[in-house]
Amino acid sequence: MRSSLKPVPPSRLPPESIHPPLMGAETRSAGTVENESMVAGAPGLGGHSRRIIAVGGGKGGIGKSMVSANLGVALAQSGKRVLLVDADLGGANLHTCLGVGQPEVTLSDFLRKGKAKLEEVMVPTGVPGLDLIAGAQDSLDAANLKYAQKQKLLRTLLAQQSVDYLILDLGAGTSFNTLDFFLLADHGVLVVLPEPTSVENAYRFVKAAFFRKLQQVEEQYGIEDVVERAMSTREGALRTLHDVVAQVRKRDAVKAERLSLELGQFHVRLVVNQARTDADLKVGAAMVSAWKKFFGIDMDDLGAIRYDDEAWRAVRKRRPVLMERPESLASQGLQRLAARILAIDGLPSGPSTP
Ligand SMILES: Nc1ncnc2c1ncn2[C@@H]1O[C@H](COP(=O)(O)OP(=O)(O)O)[C@@H](O)[C@H]1O
Ligand SMILES: [Mg+2]
Repeated sequence: MRSSLKPVPPSRLPPESIHPPLMGAETRSAGTVENESMVAGAPGLGGHSRRIIAVGGGKGGIGKSMVSANLGVALAQSGKRVLLVDADLGGANLHTCLGVGQPEVTLSDFLRKGKAKLEEVMVPTGVPGLDLIAGAQDSLDAANLKYAQKQKLLRTLLAQQSVDYLILDLGAGTSFNTLDFFLLADHGVLVVLPEPTSVENAYRFVKAAFFRKLQQVEEQYGIEDVVERAMSTREGALRTLHDVVAQVRKRDAVKAERLSLELGQFHVRLVVNQARTDADLKVGAAMVSAWKKFFGIDMDDLGAIRYDDEAWRAVRKRRPVLMERPESLASQGLQRLAARILAIDGLPSGPSTP
């Protein structure tokens, strides 16, 4: 291991909270064993107004569904047509966060029971402009979502013309299905708690996504061996994006440039949820700079959402906190999050009503 690349946490910040682990081989075993290249070669999203937001995170219970539901409400309230998709194939409960009763049609009907159109499985949420595709309630889980089913869903999502924002509430963990949906999104939103364990999980998630991305393009660039080295923990392993690109450059400068551009588009957008202290509010920015420093990969900090009793009270009432307590601290954070996303997309964030 080269000592110059040993991760040293930036000063002023508690090391255990932002310190990224070394890239390592463990990410290769993440998720189910699958080798197909799903998203590489997916049709470009540029130029189309429909955008996909995928909300992921290392583990359950950190607020992915809370963020997805309320982000959906906030975007719908600012006049966008929003479709929320409960893609947590193992623990679907987004409908509960929105107060929608046990849905009669779910994603499972679309994937398995011959419903050809996504519109056939959409249910209204009661919030104007916000529809839901409820998650499968049966044994359909991320691990046994078949290649063809995933293709069908990805293709259909990419083809959606009738909505401005598609929000995918992903399951916990780093299965390849989850990573593929995350990588497909225009906004890969990663929810993290300001706790060392959650931060660690978040880094693991980003590493897994980054390697998944590399795996998707390795054949196209003929860099299977370089990717293998990047994933290795052995002496001489490649640690940063720059290392990977430098290695490719030795063979083909043009390819290296293209690869660099392609990987540079991979931006994870962090949301720190359940921030309790002022220091917690800075964890996102600290993670962004640590990640950039050690691995040469850009992430964005979308800001923090405060821990707020109103947030869990709203869940118990099966209501989005933005509807239940729009003035609460949690709601303010969620509004800022929606505004940031709209700003990134160059869209105004004002309410739809004049
Ligand atoms: N900002 C917050 N403040 C207080 N409680 C929160 C906050 N965000 C989430 N929670 C609580 O955490 C629980 C789990 O959130 P959820 O969105 O279901 O997690 P996930 O989808 O990641 O499994 C919620 O039911 C709620 O009680
Ligand atoms: Mg959830």
